[in-house]
Amino acid sequence: MSELRSRIGGELAPAMRRFGSSVDLDRRLVDEDIAGSMAHATMLGETGILSPDAAAALVGGLKEIREEWRDGTFSPGDDFEDIHMAVEARLVEKVGPVGGALHTARSRNDQIATDLRLWMRNKLEEMDSAVTALMEAILTRVDGDGHILIPGFTHLQRGQPILLGHHLLAHIWALSRDRERLGGARSRVDACPLGSCAMAGTSFPVDRDRTATLLGFGSVMENAMDAASARDHVIETVSALAILAIHLSCMAEELVLWSSSEFGLVELDGSYASSSSIMPQKRNPDAAELVRGHSGRSTGALMGLVVLLKGLPLAYNRDLQEDRFHLYTAVDSTLICLEVLRGVYATLGIRADRYEETLVGDPSLATELADHLVSKGLPFRDAHDRVARLVARLDADGRGLDDLSPNELSTLDSDLGRAELTVLLDPREATNRKRSRGGTAPEEISRQVGLLRETLKGKTGNPE
Ligand code: ARG
Repeated sequence: MSELRSRIGGELAPAMRRFGSSVDLDRRLVDEDIAGSMAHATMLGETGILSPDAAAALVGGLKEIREEWRDGTFSPGDDFEDIHMAVEARLVEKVGPVGGALHTARSRNDQIATDLRLWMRNKLEEMDSAVTALMEAILTRVDGDGHILIPGFTHLQRGQPILLGHHLLAHIWALSRDRERLGGARSRVDACPLGSCAMAGTSFPVDRDRTATLLGFGSVMENAMDAASARDHVIETVSALAILAIHLSCMAEELVLWSSSEFGLVELDGSYASSSSIMPQKRNPDAAELVRGHSGRSTGALMGLVVLLKGLPLAYNRDLQEDRFHLYTAVDSTLICLEVLRGVYATLGIRADRYEETLVGDPSLATELADHLVSKGLPFRDAHDRVARLVARLDADGRGLDDLSPNELSTLDSDLGRAELTVLLDPREATNRKRSRGGTAPEEISRQVGLLRETLKGKTGNPE
């Protein structure tokens, strides 16, 4: 009869053994599980709950198991219910019955909660570096290509001319909020549940501050029941990842659009594009399409988690074993998307001249004319109406704003000369004039780049 069956007797059904074991999911937590156990054993020795010799034997055995895990000689299978039981069994094999003392004043409930928080803490660090690297890659493109003139769209219709730097910065600001959100999640992950036991605490004189310090946690969770069962930090993290994935998906969608021959603004480098098995001319933006598609994983993981956790009674329930599946899905998907997208932006071919000519006299400069009339004293609504009528007439004739007849020009504004009109309708001049805070003018772009570079020096997306 296997471990923990004395009360129940008999063996698990083979299907239940496979179904119930979390060893596959737990393999990623072996280092964390052993670190948690070493801290716990050290504390048991220091507080006199175990003798110094017993504690030293446990810590020594755990160190060896960690080596065995790293060199591949410790490889638990699903004959164990979880990684905690597998490590404990290996410890008993190595150090004898004293190995069974490791579980004094501890439960697998606080153990798994601790393992998961340790794992998440590391992954959130890795995630922060990956988001930062993507932000830096796009900032580099702003430095090099930010001056390129493009149409700014609303409703996917040309709105007003802008600089590419302005557009790319919008994405970088969204990513900087993602960093802040992940930093917030990390601060709540950084609390130690170890020593809470099953949910009631323990009558042994454990030193929870000590284990928290040994494991590098910023604080100790105050309520044992909450500590063993809380998973809101997992929802919070996956929710931040789902929001991030949506940002990445929108950026990817834009790259797909921009690389179509209809837009023709960018070309994905060959290292991120694929061809067609039948159409020889194809250069498909596969990397961007896959990033867009991957957003389904993180948003799906978020749905999976909230459904998993909704309505669970306190405290530990076996359902919680499923949390990792969703967490890993979101983390893995987001990390690869960030890495790929960074490469896509770093190697992206951009056609600097794609829109420069097409924007001259373009109807997307109509707001410039309306603003000019306002500067001459017309209320904006009247100016809007006057220019809208003019645009409708020009559009019907297939003419641009720069094709105004002398008569139309003087009806619009009798003081407006042709030379002044040319400046007014120069798309680059139009962007230069947008100097309001957050506008598309070059000096505003430089100001934002400076602010963002400051936030990239900080740990959580906030300037330090
Ligand atoms: N393997 C479980 C998990 O991964 C932890 C063990 C708690 N099991 C229990 N019967 N209380 O969530």
